[in-house]
Amino acid sequence: MSGIIKCINDKSISRRQLLSGAGKAAAGLAVMSAGGLVVSGAEASKAGSQYPWPYKKLDPDKVAARAYENWYKHFCAYATAGTILGMLQEEVGEPYTSLPLMAFAWGHGGGVGWGTMCGTLMGSGMAASFAAGKDGEKIINDVMNYYSATELPIYKPASPKATFKSVSKSDSPLCHVSVGRWMDKEGVTFFTPERKERCARLSADIAAETVTLLNLWADGKYTPAFGNQAKKHGMTAQNNCNDCHGK
Ligand code: HEC
Repeated sequence: MSGIIKCINDKSISRRQLLSGAGKAAAGLAVMSAGGLVVSGAEASKAGSQYPWPYKKLDPDKVAARAYENWYKHFCAYATAGTILGMLQEEVGEPYTSLPLMAFAWGHGGGVGWGTMCGTLMGSGMAASFAAGKDGEKIINDVMNYYSATELPIYKPASPKATFKSVSKSDSPLCHVSVGRWMDKEGVTFFTPERKERCARLSADIAAETVTLLNLWADGKYTPAFGNQAKKHGMTAQNNCNDCHGK
């Protein structure tokens, strides 16, 4: 574990001590963390280049509630990455604090509206990678299977911004297929309050599932469940072959 994280976790080091220490070490080149602690720019950049970054277990219910709200700020990829990494900024501090969370927002609409991989999965994959390194790949692989095989959304917000009746199983991690199936079932078009609410609640489910697996991983209790897609099919693929290839 890096010296910076030890400093942040060690309550015996006062803010003043850190301020003066960083001032001497970095000659004014200091980085402010969420907790108001100061480390030198050189130390922060050293910690930032390590992989993965430290992970601290998050409450999946709190993650879900914030992801739902964050969807309405900058949509799906921001909702998952921005929530998980944003909460790690608060719980861990540096190096997470250096991340501009808006850098993940572009994944909305499966990549600025191209309907490729659902933005919730892109965002969760980034967060799992920062927090769990190569194990993050196994985690997002399981989350992608969960996304494809589960009737979603499940999350019920305390104060819903809209209501709808349908849940659907996407059979695919693709934004276009997933949201299209749900729209067909619900009988609504894309630019409607119902569809927005569906994607906001789905973001809550995917962020919470990702954190649930990250928490198991942090406890040493995570066992990857879903196998390698490319090895299974002899090429990269989704599982709903017949949707595109016919019978
Ligand atoms: C999202 C749509 C989609 C899905 C889902 C999909 N494919 Fe494809 N696949 C395509 C397209 C488009 C091509 C390009 C070649 C073509 O037009 O046939 C392709 C090409 C292929 C090819 C190489 C070209 C050929 O026809 O021999 C194979 C093999 C293949 N897919 C198998 C699968 C299998 C097996 C699955 C399920 C595990 C699958 N695909 C799922 C759309 C899809």
